Amino acid sequence: ESTLGAAAAQSGRYFGTAIASGRLGDSAYTSIAGREFNVVTPENEMKIDATEPQRGQFNFTAGDRVYNWAVQNGKRVRGHTLAWHSQQPGWMQSLGGGTLRQAMIDHINGVMSHYKGKIAQWDVVNEAFADGSSGARRDSNLQRTGNDWIEVAFRTARAADPAAKLCYNDYNVENWTWAKTQAMYSMVRDFKQRGVPIDCVGFQSHFNNDSPYNSNFRTTLQSFAALGVDVAITELDIQGASATTYANVTNDCLAVPRCLGLTVWGVRDTDSWRSEQTPLLFNGNGGKKPAYTAVLDAL
Ligand code: XIL
Repeated sequence: ESTLGAAAAQSGRYFGTAIASGRLGDSAYTSIAGREFNVVTPENEMKIDATEPQRGQFNFTAGDRVYNWAVQNGKRVRGHTLAWHSQQPGWMQSLGGGTLRQAMIDHINGVMSHYKGKIAQWDVVNEAFADGSSGARRDSNLQRTGNDWIEVAFRTARAADPAAKLCYNDYNVENWTWAKTQAMYSMVRDFKQRGVPIDCVGFQSHFNNDSPYNSNFRTTLQSFAALGVDVAITELDIQGASATTYANVTNDCLAVPRCLGLTVWGVRDTDSWRSEQTPLLFNGNGGKKPAYTAVLDAL
């Protein structure tokens, strides 16, 4: 196959990218994105600050721009993200307790009803665990509403759009030996045992010198899949873009039947949120890097 999306489709998987609405006027960008990828994640446009800038006043202008570009170009959309400690609008940052809990529920309902039936996977909750060795939840205004905030978010999401796959998404959870990974595993196991509606786990996979790729990632993906959830690589970028590491990550997904696909977090290095790390598959001129060929060959 000659594109990432078509190559991934040979095994029933997808290959996606994050898309930034502000770049959709750049034809070099859209020609690569349109050609290579078959799933789109809006990089910022469906986050809480973008979609509900004032409480109860929803704005889907930028989200719809990305959504419409994706659909017009034959791509499916991963929704990102409904409940998160970061990129909250000011009004939400200042809430707590029962008021915040209700605002979270209202937000999930407002966004998911706008996109009802249109989103393949939703990242319902993002980054709820702490870094380091504690295995604890991350402290946040949402966490302080009560430990059950995550399951409430998932139950709300299931009711709002029963057709969407509902994912929990996090970073530094790729290494099976890390406390954060084990904490997330315990939560997902508990959710499955108690019937909390969760369908998938997203592994962001922002690999860098501080949290490098480890070959036990495949064990992690297999272990979560064995709990009865799908897994996906949702925000892949690799500092320095080692071709070998990109191939290893691709092969890890291919080795796990419940791995739905891979998404890279941007198109060209110059589009990356960490552009100084040149972590993506295309250089700033739109040229294919060695990592691109390694991924294509692995798929
Ligand atoms: C990043 C975007 O790429 C940036 O443009 C923005 O300034 C900050 O957020 N984990 C996530 C993503 O789940 O939403 C983040 O995206 C990267 C880390």
